[in-house]
Amino acid sequence: MSDYAFFHKQFMPLSEAKIGVLTHALHYGTACFEGIRGNWDSKEGRFCVFRLQDHYKRMLGGCRMLRITLPYSVDKLCQLTGELVERSGYRQDVYIRPLAYKSSEALGVRLHNLDDDFLIVVTTLPPYLDAENGVRSCVSSWRRVDDTMIPPRGKICGIYANSALAKTEACENGFDEAILLTQDGHVSEGSGENIFLVTGGKLITPLPSDNILMGVTRDSVMTLAKNELGIDTIERQVDRSELYVAEECFFTGTAANVAPILEIDHRPIGNGKIGKVTAKLQKLFAEVMVGRNAKYPEWYYLVSPKL
Ligand SMILES: Cc1ncc(COP(=O)(O)O)c(C=O)c1O
Repeated sequence: MSDYAFFHKQFMPLSEAKIGVLTHALHYGTACFEGIRGNWDSKEGRFCVFRLQDHYKRMLGGCRMLRITLPYSVDKLCQLTGELVERSGYRQDVYIRPLAYKSSEALGVRLHNLDDDFLIVVTTLPPYLDAENGVRSCVSSWRRVDDTMIPPRGKICGIYANSALAKTEACENGFDEAILLTQDGHVSEGSGENIFLVTGGKLITPLPSDNILMGVTRDSVMTLAKNELGIDTIERQVDRSELYVAEECFFTGTAANVAPILEIDHRPIGNGKIGKVTAKLQKLFAEVMVGRNAKYPEWYYLVSPKL
């Protein structure tokens, strides 16, 4: 059992997968990636890869933006991922990181006249935020990149310099996570998560046009809230001060799952404890993620390793 890669169209231990120092994507951020969880179900002896097709659909959207052409359909990408997970030998929860990138070893900022390549890594990822106890957050002094700069609806590597600036600033100031505002001062999202508010018993979350990544977890939580709890989500512009007076707030993301926000800018959210709606959604999502909800079969890609 080890970290494994699909690289240069072959499966190999991660330690053997190397790229050249002049690789275009390394210098210019000309790549897009995904983060996907494959949850190990020891009872059934299989991995339940969460919304694999949806992650690959989003990645192929990013490829279009960056003019990366891959010789793979969504189905083929899923099949390669399944084979990689199986070959890794892991029999525990895994984290899958596909990356489509400009692979030419060439200097010069552009998207054209460059080769494209694709790799996948399977590894493990400890909890990214303390979803169990809740997190303390702050509004960042950095603003979220705009669609007119680098399109945030693609998970484009270069954008993550923006996220990294915000995350490190937040951590060095004693917080767990940053919340970024748009150029015109509306709430956008966390450095690696979407954000939700609970106000008047309803869920509120920023609009796609407020430069968010269209999160797979965001969509799952909206669906679960509606179907399982009868709670509608309103997608609309959100002011910074609405965060301070919300009844509850939480982040959603593949790395963070559903992570309650207990405090923003030193102001407790609600009573400063994990809210009721957040707790219900956390529980529902945790069950759904590991395949224990027969209502959403299209959300799972099952990988059953030969034992
Ligand atoms: C900037 C950003 N926003 C939101 C998300 C949440 O997206 P998802 O739920 O698809 O993981 C992520 C994580 O990929 C992210 O990096």
